[in-house]
Amino acid sequence: MPARTLLTAGITGVGMSFPERRLTNAELETMVDTKDDWIVERTGIRERRLVERGVGASFHGAKAAEQALEHAGLKATDIDLIIVPTVTPDMLFPATACLIQHMIGADKAWGYDMEAACSGFVFALQNARAQVESGFARRVLVIGTEVMSAITDYTDRNTCILFGDGAGAVVVEAVDPARVGIIDAILRVDGSGADLLKMDGGGSRMPPTAESVAAKAHYIFQEGREVYKFAVKGMANITAEIVQKNGFTGPDVDLFVPHQANLRIIEAAQRRVGLEDRQVGITIDRFGNTTSASIPSCLRVALEEGRLQEGSLVVATSFGAGFTWGSVLLRWNAPL
Ligand code: COA
Repeated sequence: MPARTLLTAGITGVGMSFPERRLTNAELETMVDTKDDWIVERTGIRERRLVERGVGASFHGAKAAEQALEHAGLKATDIDLIIVPTVTPDMLFPATACLIQHMIGADKAWGYDMEAACSGFVFALQNARAQVESGFARRVLVIGTEVMSAITDYTDRNTCILFGDGAGAVVVEAVDPARVGIIDAILRVDGSGADLLKMDGGGSRMPPTAESVAAKAHYIFQEGREVYKFAVKGMANITAEIVQKNGFTGPDVDLFVPHQANLRIIEAAQRRVGLEDRQVGITIDRFGNTTSASIPSCLRVALEEGRLQEGSLVVATSFGAGFTWGSVLLRWNAPL
């Protein structure tokens, strides 16, 4: 057997796509008993984007993927694996990865969807890294895409203020090991929190019926206050853990890209690691919580704002339903 070459995976392209339609806090004030001030103070969200009814997650997912490919200087036919983390696939099956493969013309790819709620992107990025570093896949698209509006109850003020639609995508491929790429990942799940943030209906335990629809079982349910406590602890601890484990301290981090669920959760993690505001990527004000799309789209925004340089040390951390949480540490390798 020939000796296996050691490969190092890195991100070489990033893209995003959002619907035009904005749902502002002022508009939400006309829909439920809420106030702009309350939403901004408690969450940091000012507006979010929504697709038109009938647009599936594949639509913006494909657009984000095309932008990521262009950024990486690749064609769709260069891709051999498409991983789509999402909680809002177009359909339960076939996989949205198949739909996007066909839409973008990635004729040589295989692919699959995976679900880890708001941690979907971070988990999928580690999947992509493992595929590339094993030598099985050469170029992988990871596409976090969500239509959260499809599972949001716009009469429930506890949840409808939080979520938005959109997509973010990255290309992962082997990079020059001297340029480092993805350094480490720490990933966790704890199913004891499953009932605190969930959608009961539509799965095998509760197939859709007239009763399940009437009971609003096909919408997001969240015990916000409880989830908040777990999220603060989970995000802060795992971010500190990955930075320290790899011999870095707060000032070494060029960009912290947290999942965008709540500005106060982000600030708690930021304080724990000792990061200045200039080291933190924030998009929650304009997009709300877009689940698996939040981290890749935040990376794209940071790139467009000139906040990423060759070799920038980036930490991406997520927390979501499951519970799921995780952190990835990497050096930035994509063109500027
Ligand atoms: N507008 C006005 N008041 C609202 C409101 C809204 N949209 N939503 C809830 N309230 C009220 C509550 O009814 C409650 O009133 P009460 O004290 O009379 O009962 C009060 O505001 C405080 O509610 P609470 O749930 O304690 O607020 P909070 O400060 O915890 O903020 C969340 C609510 C949802 C923003 C926050 O808990 C959160 O971000 N949770 C975690 C989300 C998350 O990270 N999810 C995981 C990743 S997806």
